[in-house]
Amino acid sequence: MDLKLGLLTLALMGGLTMTTIAQTTEQQLPAPQTRGGKTLMEALTLRQTQRDFLPQKEIDAQTLSNLLWATWGINRPQLQKRTAPTAINSQAIDVYVATAQALWRYDAKENKLLLHKKGDLRCGKFKEAPVLFYYVAPPGDGWAKAHAGSLYQNAGLYCASIGLGNVVIGFKQTLEEIQSRCELPAGREVVVAQAFGWTK
Ligand SMILES: Cc1cc2nc3c(=O)[nH]c(=O)nc-3n(C[C@H](O)[C@H](O)[C@H](O)COP(=O)(O)O)c2cc1C
Repeated sequence: MDLKLGLLTLALMGGLTMTTIAQTTEQQLPAPQTRGGKTLMEALTLRQTQRDFLPQKEIDAQTLSNLLWATWGINRPQLQKRTAPTAINSQAIDVYVATAQALWRYDAKENKLLLHKKGDLRCGKFKEAPVLFYYVAPPGDGWAKAHAGSLYQNAGLYCASIGLGNVVIGFKQTLEEIQSRCELPAGREVVVAQAFGWTK
């Protein structure tokens, strides 16, 4: 079996780990599961911040795909519209995904992770969480924080529906560390971050 076929097989088996993902420049995510889970009212009842992550317990590719779709996926493909609203449908926000191996940008249209930078770019107090999202927008966009808030709430509700822990991170020094280490594209800055992991 060649390497590509081997990776695909692993992905189909749901056994794709982020270690495997880090060896490629882009990674097709499994199709998000958009059915099932808790009801919205149950998820709202359970939504909460959690900070005690199990650093060694990975978030599998299927869960990551579902989480990304819930956060900022395309829910009406014919209109290319998303799970969160944006002012005049600007869609001017990106989700970057930091793992122990690399930093990726979520491509919702292709349901892929695109490699942005290799290496462990998890920052701040919650850097042991297996996955962090960095919400990145144009600096002058007056709606950026509102947009990021919609995304992190979507993510938090999905977490509540499956029992995954998360914490939003607005701590200034952490955002500065992300900005200085991640080599974000020109004219892009991190607005807020969010850490995810299974809890103790
Ligand atoms: C914009 C924003 C920034 C936050 N920044 C941090 C942070 O830097 N560190 C942290 O531990 N919690 C942070 N939090 C989590 C809040 O402390 C938490 O939401 C609050 O205590 C209420 O708890 P709950 O989410 O369980 O309702 C942040 C939350 C928001 C919405």
